[in-house]
Amino acid sequence: MPPSIPSASSEFVDRIEAYRSRVEDFIARQLPGTEAPFHQALRYAALGEGKRVRPLLTYATGEALGIKSDILDYPAAALEIMHTYSLVHDDLPAMDDDNLRRGRPTVHVVWDEATAILVGDALQTLAFEVLTRAPVDPLIIRDWISILAVGAGQGGMVGGQILDMAGEQRTLNEQELRQMHDGKTGKLISAGILMAARAGNASESVTACLAEYGKHIGLAFQIRDDILDVTQSTDMLGKPQGSDAGNRKSTFVTLLGLDESTQQLKAHYQSAIQSIGRISQPAPDGLVYLASHIVQRNK
Ligand code: IPE
Ligand code: IPE
Ligand code: MG
Ligand code: MG
Ligand code: MG
Repeated sequence: MPPSIPSASSEFVDRIEAYRSRVEDFIARQLPGTEAPFHQALRYAALGEGKRVRPLLTYATGEALGIKSDILDYPAAALEIMHTYSLVHDDLPAMDDDNLRRGRPTVHVVWDEATAILVGDALQTLAFEVLTRAPVDPLIIRDWISILAVGAGQGGMVGGQILDMAGEQRTLNEQELRQMHDGKTGKLISAGILMAARAGNASESVTACLAEYGKHIGLAFQIRDDILDVTQSTDMLGKPQGSDAGNRKSTFVTLLGLDESTQQLKAHYQSAIQSIGRISQPAPDGLVYLASHIVQRNK
């Protein structure tokens, strides 16, 4: 039985709201501001009430490495914009066919499917454009682009989404489920951590510890998402409860049940904490806080 998870208390909590509003303001400044319907759709998607967990991880990693927030804004925002594109496409009728996201009707419901596809496309390219705007060494930008492209592409988020769709047709085994979660969710979460590590010229050994942390909290994040799909209300989630069951998805809960899924969630939390404990003692407080938040979150 893994040890219990401490309640979320850390100095990082005091800084979290500042980071959230910081990245939201930054994202808003990257978007076109006109009243053209497509620009409105872009802002609707990008400025909805997301939790901003991925940017928070980028800032927390950067804090641990002593990087200025002014630099971290670029990878933090680019990652969140990329993630938002993945949500707009994930909700399309051809995929999960969901009509609610971040507490509001999805883009294809408010506008139409073509607009939602194009909003996703535009957000994806905007993510890379934002990285190119950063006032840093171009070699860092080159590596950021590579990290984000790999995390989002066929070996990352898209690859995971392909397995996710296959899992509607047949029952995935545990190894495939882990691969699916690592791909569709873990790889983008890790990209934000790795972009911060690159900005700070982190050593190979520190980068390896951060990568291991990212892998475990990415898996934990999606296992928690599977659990919440069964146990939480639509109101709290801001997206339709029971979407996975409605689509006959293969999830951790359908394969292993709630108890075993919870045990695996805790095991990934412990492994994540161990990984960053090898960077410093005590481990970086922001990363500890976010790990416990991810496994205990209610939405
Ligand atoms: C939802 O991500 C998609 C998954 C990978 C589970 P989040 O739970 O981070 O959604 P937002 O960004 O807060 O809306
Ligand atoms: C989505 O996983 C992961 C993405 C790449 C968007 P889910 O389909 O479980 O995410 P939610 O539950 O709709 O947010
Ligand atoms: Mg999905
Ligand atoms: Mg979905
Ligand atoms: Mg889900």
